[in-house]
Amino acid sequence: MGELATEKHVRYILSVEKRKDNFESVVMEHLRMNGAYWGLTTLDLLGKLHTVDVDEVVSWLMSCQHDSGGFGGNVEHDPHILYTLSAVQVLSLFDKLDVIDVDKVTSYIVSLQNEDGSFSGDMWGEVDTRFSYIAICCLSILHRLDKINVEKAVKYIIFFFFGFISCKNMDGGFGCTPGGESHAGQIFCCVGALAITGSLDLVDKDLLGWWLCERQVKSGGLNGRPEKLPDVCYSWWVLSSLIMIDRVHWISKEKLIKFILDCQDTENGGISDRPDDAVDVFHTFFGVAGLSLLEYPGLKPVDPAYALPVDVVNRIIFTK
Ligand code: FPP
Ligand code: ZN
Repeated sequence: MGELATEKHVRYILSVEKRKDNFESVVMEHLRMNGAYWGLTTLDLLGKLHTVDVDEVVSWLMSCQHDSGGFGGNVEHDPHILYTLSAVQVLSLFDKLDVIDVDKVTSYIVSLQNEDGSFSGDMWGEVDTRFSYIAICCLSILHRLDKINVEKAVKYIIFFFFGFISCKNMDGGFGCTPGGESHAGQIFCCVGALAITGSLDLVDKDLLGWWLCERQVKSGGLNGRPEKLPDVCYSWWVLSSLIMIDRVHWISKEKLIKFILDCQDTENGGISDRPDDAVDVFHTFFGVAGLSLLEYPGLKPVDPAYALPVDVVNRIIFTK
């Protein structure tokens, strides 16, 4: 089995940021804030965050904030809850949360909670359990969870019925809205939101654990739904969920490590969705974060609910 090409991945992440004219940078233009979170968290897990110019990142990030308190994906882009969490996560990596007006960011997120406890992603109103997770994760980092109706937010994820259907399905999984098909990405969001709010006792762990461990295919990789191809990003969505519900011993860790390592570009750095595909920052982050969850040597441990290094989460929790 190959090894993690740490130095190459560091060089790859730094080069994507510098080469503004390459294909990936153009594709990433509208979600640069997410890209900053993926890239910088990867560097931190690899122990190389100090190679970044903090002031440059923070001043760009602050220029993406709107009067509403929310952040856009790039300068002059509309605010969205997705980018707001990424901005808050990046600031917490650098221990720079003091540069934001916390009450303003909080009021943006509070304004997105709906009467039934769900969250919209922005002023246009699309509802998704991803946004419930994001709101809860972000407010927890800011120590402002008390500003939303947490009880209703949790009820929406696990109990809310629209007709006869809820976000929680008969197979133990979760979808994006009531009646939505179980999907590992949404399961991460729902389980993460329940973990952060201390509500994991509401989950049928054996039923959900069974659905999640069936995501491991012959090659060792994990898929996101039955009959789909394995994909490195599901090493995060599935694995973090299995860890949060204490069922990670139901999959083969060794086979998954091998699958992730097989997705590396060992020449130019970066990790792809599956072996021999083109690499990108998204899959590089989820590959490295997955290896961290698997306790691969030399990586900082990552928190499965906050998707941040454990030392960063500890700093957040223990400082007010
Ligand atoms: C699958 O995406 C993943 C999801 C639906 C979950 C996304 C979660 C967030 C945006 C919350 C923030 C996440 C972190 C780690 C802090 P996909 O569109 O690739 O799904 P596909 O494989 O079905 O195409
Ligand atoms: Zn993927």
